[in-house]
Amino acid sequence: MSSKDESVFKDRRDKLVEIAARHAEETPSAGHSIALMTEGGHALAPAQLEQRRLIHREDSVRRQSDAFREIRTRLLELAGSQNFITLVVSVSPHSGGSFVARNLAAAFAFDETKTSLLIDCNLRYPNQHKELGVDPAKGGLIDYLEHPIRGLKSIIYQTGIPRLRLVPAGTSRENSGEFFSSFRMRAMLDSLRCRYSDRYLFLDGPAVNGSPDARILSDLADFVVVVVGYGRDTPAAVNQAVANFETSKLAGVVFNQSS
Ligand SMILES: Nc1ncnc2c1ncn2[C@@H]1O[C@H](COP(=O)(O)OP(=O)(O)O)[C@@H](O)[C@H]1O
Ligand SMILES: [Mg+2]
Repeated sequence: MSSKDESVFKDRRDKLVEIAARHAEETPSAGHSIALMTEGGHALAPAQLEQRRLIHREDSVRRQSDAFREIRTRLLELAGSQNFITLVVSVSPHSGGSFVARNLAAAFAFDETKTSLLIDCNLRYPNQHKELGVDPAKGGLIDYLEHPIRGLKSIIYQTGIPRLRLVPAGTSRENSGEFFSSFRMRAMLDSLRCRYSDRYLFLDGPAVNGSPDARILSDLADFVVVVVGYGRDTPAAVNQAVANFETSKLAGVVFNQSS
C-alpha cells in the first residue's frame, strides 16, 4: 500500500471517521453478530489455501499476509467502528485485482471477531468461484438481482475458510452496468451490511480500464482500493484510473507483483 500523501489521507480519515460516527448515531442498534457462527464442512489446510492463492497463518506466506493485514488495519482506522463496503479494482485486467480482493477478504476473516463476504462483481469474466473451488449451483449475484424471490441466503456460499463467504457472479452478462446502478443492487448491499455488524463486504470489480463498471460500483462502496500491476501499469494509467474515484473514498493503492 503506498503512503503517497499522508496529509491528504489524514484529512480524509478525519472526515470519514466523522461520517462513520454520524451514521452510528443514526443506527443505534448495532445488528446481530455472526462471527461465532459454526462452519459447516472442513476448514482448508495451508496447501489447499495456497492452491487457491490465499494467505494463511503459516510462515511461508508471512510477508504477503502481513501486507494484507496492514491494509485491513488501514481500512478499519478509516472507518471507525462501523462495518463497511470496500471495492477492489485493478487498473488493467490481470493486474491482480481479484487476487487482492480475495486475500483482503480473507485477512478480515482471520480476525475471529469479524466475517467477510466477497462479492464477485465481474459479470463478464467472473473467476472467484473458480479460484475458491466453489460450485455456484444455486446461482449468484445476477440470478438474485433478476429473481430476488430466491432470497439472499441461496447465493451466499461457504469457501472452506472460516468466516469467509462468497457471492459468486452467477450467469455471466455483457451489460452489467445497469445491474450495478439498480435500486435492487443497492438495497441488497444495504441489507447484507446491516444484517450483521461484524460483516465486512468486498466487491471484486472489473478493471478500471476497459469498463465503466468500476466507477459505477464505487458509488456503492465506502472505500476503493486500486490495484496496480507492478511493472505492467504505467504511472499515467494509474493516475487516469485513480481519477475515476471520489478522493474521499480512495483508501489506497496496492502495487501487486504476480510473479
Ligand atoms: N501476488 C500474486 N501472487 C500470486 N498470484 C497472483 C498474484 N497476483 C495475481 N495473481 C494471479 O494472476 C492471475 C490474474 O490475477 P487476477 O487477480 O485475476 O487479476 P485481475 O482481477 O486484475 O484481472 C490470477 O491467476 C491470480 O491468481
Ligand atoms: Mg478480476
